[in-house]
Amino acid sequence: MAGTKGCLIVASILGFGLISCREDKLVFTKSPKDVSAVEGASVTLPCKATPDDGIVYLWTRDGFTLENTTRRFMQGSNLHITRVDRERDAGPLVCQAEHITGKYKTVHSSPVSILIEFIEDPTVVLVKPDNATKIRFGDTVVLDCQLEASGDVDYEWFHNEKHLSKDDLVNTERDVVKGRELFLTKIQSSSNGVYRCQARNSAGSRKSVNRFVLAVEGDQSLHIQSIPTDQTVRKGHTAFFHCAYKEAIKVLWHFNNNPEVLSDDGR
Ligand SMILES: *[C@@H]1O[C@H](CO)[C@@H](O)[C@H](O)[C@H]1NC(C)=O
Ligand SMILES: *[C@@H]1O[C@H](CO)[C@@H](O)[C@H](O)[C@H]1NC(C)=O
Repeated sequence: MAGTKGCLIVASILGFGLISCREDKLVFTKSPKDVSAVEGASVTLPCKATPDDGIVYLWTRDGFTLENTTRRFMQGSNLHITRVDRERDAGPLVCQAEHITGKYKTVHSSPVSILIEFIEDPTVVLVKPDNATKIRFGDTVVLDCQLEASGDVDYEWFHNEKHLSKDDLVNTERDVVKGRELFLTKIQSSSNGVYRCQARNSAGSRKSVNRFVLAVEGDQSLHIQSIPTDQTVRKGHTAFFHCAYKEAIKVLWHFNNNPEVLSDDGR
């Protein structure tokens, strides 16, 4: 009961007197709750107890007291995190309120967690067959879009930068790895080209940094031997992109999907 010091006398049948005294407890007026945050965003976890005077607050994570850093520090009695980090801010986080006089019993909030939403760059991986050199026309090829991400992830696939519609996609049962697969059945010359995937969740959208190049030789189609890669170049400096086709008479370059062919002049 607040405001009173309750003492309970328990007499045992053996005649001993056992006295337990309950001190007054501090009471939380604001306590932290589980929250979601995108990795890198800021979060403030509230904490406040009453009576106002003489309370010392501290925050713990997994039982260890949190030190103030420039990234994560106490703002009054609240805990403020400037950039939420998946590894360093995972819970359980607890706010502790203690009275300097010791007159009141120290209280701890319920442990809370920050549900951190994140997405990393996906990677396109050839799942079937196990080696690209084994791919023949008519085969089924399975590509996997692999990434580390939180929660539900949506996947999209691109063939030569053209978005593949849902009809082209065959959803398999949820993979053990957090990837989603693209099934290419009955490989033919038109299947050749560059494959990329894009993943999206509540934390954002990311396109694969790598591409998978399907280059099956066989009929009359041209066979790409090396593909140009993205390059970072200082303005005014020279960039070389290498592109080679086997048995091609002429190789043309396009800029920004523009059908107009770039001239050799200055390139
Ligand atoms: C962090 O800083 C607050 C003041 O903003 C202070 O009350 C608290 O004791 C500090 N925590 C630690 C663990 O030093
Ligand atoms: C795929 O097969 C080729 C030729 O047999 C071999 O040189 C290459 O190392 C293999 N790649 C992988 C990833 O096993």
